[in-house]
Amino acid sequence: MKKEKIRAVKALTGAVELPGDKSMSHRYAMLAALADGASELRHFSAARDCHSTLGCIKAIGAEVSVQGSTVGIIGHGLRGLKASRKTLDAENSGTTIRLMSGILSGQQFTTKITGDASLQKRPMKRVVTPLRQMGADIRAQNENFPPLEILGRKLQGIHYEMPMASAQVKSAVLLAGLYAEGQTSVTEPARTRDHTEIALEEFGAAISRQGNTISIQGMAYGNGPGNLQPKSLDVPGDLSSAVFFIAAASLLPDSNLYIGNVGLNPTRSAILDFFHAMGASISVLNLQSSHGELVGDLAVKGANLKGGVIAGDLVPLLIDELPMLAALGPFTEQGIEIRDAGELRVKESDRIAALAENLKRLGAKVEERPDGLKVLGRAAGKLRGAEIEPHGDHRIAMAFAVAGLAAEGETIIRDAECAGVSYPTFFAELQRLSEN
Ligand code: S3P
Repeated sequence: MKKEKIRAVKALTGAVELPGDKSMSHRYAMLAALADGASELRHFSAARDCHSTLGCIKAIGAEVSVQGSTVGIIGHGLRGLKASRKTLDAENSGTTIRLMSGILSGQQFTTKITGDASLQKRPMKRVVTPLRQMGADIRAQNENFPPLEILGRKLQGIHYEMPMASAQVKSAVLLAGLYAEGQTSVTEPARTRDHTEIALEEFGAAISRQGNTISIQGMAYGNGPGNLQPKSLDVPGDLSSAVFFIAAASLLPDSNLYIGNVGLNPTRSAILDFFHAMGASISVLNLQSSHGELVGDLAVKGANLKGGVIAGDLVPLLIDELPMLAALGPFTEQGIEIRDAGELRVKESDRIAALAENLKRLGAKVEERPDGLKVLGRAAGKLRGAEIEPHGDHRIAMAFAVAGLAAEGETIIRDAECAGVSYPTFFAELQRLSEN
């Protein structure tokens, strides 16, 4: 297992190249596999997770070719998928297994899908429950965990009131809705990322929104338009990857960083508002709309960060950014407090426990709570470099690499390769931009 050494640096300067957005790449790949014809996806994410999705759609009959970051996918229509003799492998990717479950529920064949040791501990009941209501027959370990066996069926449209704010659950139901008779709608208790709705519309599905309810018209039965259309799309850079550099540049006073071509969808960009409220210096430039998604460039300079509280409806909008915010806590004036975020315990690792453990290793003062944590700010003392255990979680590894840049002495990130789940070149980029 590869270790990365991080030492204190003076500043981050230059321009960053981000991998394509992970959430959008998953969705574009899946919809291209269901469309009738050849799609081209440029600047497709380099994340291992998105390549797990490519492996899954290939196993059920989509033709996939990868050339650098350009991915060609030939789909054979909504009814063009085929049974796989092998169990599909979502590896570390929750998005892959949950969204694919929606698609597989509407097929006329049975599929087994599983993932790595971490994924096999993550809850699937949240998608199994609504998909069963639509008519799918799904078997899960202890009714909740992968491997899943999905016996595809003719599905019925439902109205689903989601008990938790989860874009993955919403997406699984909407994708199954493509295969349902009539209309399927989902009401979310708080807003979550809406890339699925946008991408479905882009590929030609009939989507409507009313408040927190999103509806889709089934296409595989009756007199609907019949098939999704193939598309030629550019994936913008991943804002959730950019956040590690925004945090690092903000921490180091002499920084001057340019992050070009970043996805700025309003259901993802609350993190920029939060940084602004903390006193960060971030300018948004060249804002434009592309395939229904907002895209722009960011210029970031060093600043004095105040800290703050993340709770309630803000949690799902910042869900993947919470590890970085917590790890910034000890460098802020008032510290960082996270509440109402029990979901963090069922991500790629138990992120609340992993954050508390590693913050303590660096000498920070932290209170771990069932649904969050409170990290004391600068007055509680300086951080000293230490060995970090990411528990196989990419965002924990990257968050503590950033904290290490501003700690005294040397920080070692164990099993640093796990960053490749979302950002394979993260450590090389961090080093390239670091000024000593
Ligand atoms: C994702 C949704 C979020 C997020 C995950 C990606 C997506 O999960 O944490 O990294 O692409 O839909 P939940 O929707 O389960 O909160």
